Amino acid sequence: MHVISIYNSKGGVGKTTTAHSLAFGLAAEGRRVLLVDLDHQANLSGWCKQPANVPTLDEVTRGEPLSSLIQEVADGVDIVPASDRLLSAESAVGAEMVPQRWLARHFKTLRSDRWDYIIIDCPPSMGALSIAALAACQWVLVPVELNALSLAGVGQAAERIEQIADINEGVQLLGVLPVRQDLRKVVAREVLEQLKEGFGEDEIFSGIRTGVRLEECPSFGISIYEYAAGSPVAEDYKRLVQEVIHRVEA
Ligand SMILES: Nc1ncnc2c1ncn2[C@@H]1O[C@H](COP(=O)(O)OP(=O)(O)OP(=O)(O)O)[C@@H](O)[C@H]1O
Ligand SMILES: [Mg+2]
Repeated sequence: MHVISIYNSKGGVGKTTTAHSLAFGLAAEGRRVLLVDLDHQANLSGWCKQPANVPTLDEVTRGEPLSSLIQEVADGVDIVPASDRLLSAESAVGAEMVPQRWLARHFKTLRSDRWDYIIIDCPPSMGALSIAALAACQWVLVPVELNALSLAGVGQAAERIEQIADINEGVQLLGVLPVRQDLRKVVAREVLEQLKEGFGEDEIFSGIRTGVRLEECPSFGISIYEYAAGSPVAEDYKRLVQEVIHRVEA
């Protein structure tokens, strides 16, 4: 089971979009995926058509087994949904003896042969839940917009990965994913160059272009491959899926 956190403490950089599109793309390639929505905004859960009254991840802090919260979304895709109740769960997790280990501990209770991938959609913060995600995964994928302000965010993410390696030795950067990539812009090309210099060319994924179809499809509760098959952004995410399989399953 390969565990990937989609992480960047900056908001609105395409974490949820990437979690959903990666999960459905991997499922199309025959992989079984468990999505974990760790964000109290529950955008991913909404996209996966989870009703408001469904039991969510916060139940784990009240003693429910993680496995009892898993909902089937589609062929090959399951989810542990979130809700705004996760806000209170965050303080419960923070009060634990070893809060960083909270999610890893619960992942251990799952049958490891049931999924090929667990994909965690992190909230845009550096709270207890994000730290627990970084401590529970082998891989961290960092979506980023190609502008000057975003460089600090990626640097911070890299630092967090280094820090968490103290308790989660195997964790590593899966790659930086440029989103809303428009290489006609000088600043985008410059920032991309800096990322390649800083992290190495191999650590930068090919990138996702801007596409309004991506903004539209969550409200229909379907993936980009179903909503706009053949669109540039669907093609970009398909290529990301291949790049991820190549790196993770090598
Ligand atoms: N490549 C893209 N082209 C156009 N719009 C995009 C693209 N990627 C994401 N978006 C849109 O940008 C907005 C933010 O994306 P998303 O919700 O995935 O970011 P996020 O990092 O999960 O945000 P948050 O930090 O609030 O959880 C959404 O409206 C989404 O549809
Ligand atoms: Mg999100």
